[in-house]
Amino acid sequence: MKKKLKLSNKFIPVNTPKIFRQEKLNVMDCLKSGWISSQGKYVDLFEKKFSKYNNRLYGVAVCNGTAALEIALKSLNLKKNDEVIIPSFTIISSILCIIKLGLKPILVDSDLNNWNMSVEQTIEKINTKTKAIIITHIYGYPVEMNKILKIAKKKKIKIIEDAAEMIGQNYMGKKCGSFGDLSTFSFYANKHITTGEGGMVLTNNKRLYIKLRSLRNLCFGVGDNRFNHDDIGYNYRLTNIQSAIGCGQLKNIKWIIKKKLYVGNMYYNLLKSNKNIIIQKPQNKYSKNIYWVFGLLLKKHNKRYVMKKLLDHGIETRSFFKPMHMQTIIKKLNILEKNKYPISENLYNKGFYLPSGLGTTRNQIYKIVKTLNKILV
Ligand SMILES: Cc1ncc(COP(=O)(O)O)c(C=O)c1O
Repeated sequence: MKKKLKLSNKFIPVNTPKIFRQEKLNVMDCLKSGWISSQGKYVDLFEKKFSKYNNRLYGVAVCNGTAALEIALKSLNLKKNDEVIIPSFTIISSILCIIKLGLKPILVDSDLNNWNMSVEQTIEKINTKTKAIIITHIYGYPVEMNKILKIAKKKKIKIIEDAAEMIGQNYMGKKCGSFGDLSTFSFYANKHITTGEGGMVLTNNKRLYIKLRSLRNLCFGVGDNRFNHDDIGYNYRLTNIQSAIGCGQLKNIKWIIKKKLYVGNMYYNLLKSNKNIIIQKPQNKYSKNIYWVFGLLLKKHNKRYVMKKLLDHGIETRSFFKPMHMQTIIKKLNILEKNKYPISENLYNKGFYLPSGLGTTRNQIYKIVKTLNKILV
């Protein structure tokens, strides 16, 4: 006989992180040692372990994923007005670092099939002024990067792979975050592994590695020259305590990916027959979807109405990104090409994601799906 499910009335947050025993032990170790700022064994250890996990030689831990993008781009030493291609549909961090460095952002629209930046448009936008592309993986699937990587190599265009949402994901048998000149990650509480706030830049290039370490630490000099600074740096250091949490999380990465797959596949199976929404499949030609979050697009219902109704039932959701060309500040700056990005606008107008954190339970998913199906009549 089927067990009757007890559906709780409690609030279901869009994300609940999972903290394991190892993190608590590591943090206590840190506190006892007194090494609580950015010096101490856990920073090095986290960088080594995380770069090894992603098949990269070097890691530079920083205080968040935005900082990771900023020092990654700065380390490439591009010139004023050099063009950097990014998707319109992403977090604002990418365009901000381009603007702050005096570079020119070139936007591309999204791909309807996987919600990532369009590969065709990215290639079309490449010209002699293009000096870097930030390949940004969004939500569940990696960007189908092969063609972009080949052209970039031929034309000596630098690649930063923004793998903030893709920890543990593979693309053609290799880890996302192991492609391109540099890759960046975020360890915010909703990411696959978290340090509370945190981020990292990975590379195989020793020269870039040395520059990144300097940039994250105010470009301090060495030895007698410690208080001489030879470039504009940042204090973007990650603390030993945060790194200690990261080491603990990384130990549990297999469980984390398994849980993400469990949550994503359960939503998929329960929602695949709902004719009022579009959801991503568990697999495409290139990769398995490991579901950073479980997103959906509404076909005819109003997004705000549906999200509000879910909230009335104690279910928190999160809107998809608002594309960069629609941002007040970006419009005010008037720095973009006069193009249209209809697919990213549609993603924003119709898309949101359901609670998909590591703490999301089976019973919560049943409740969420049941409520959503009722709203979407
Ligand atoms: C694709 C992507 N890049 C960068 C970031 C920025 O990371 P952080 O919030 O740690 O600054 C995020 C954050 O969600 C992200 O989703």
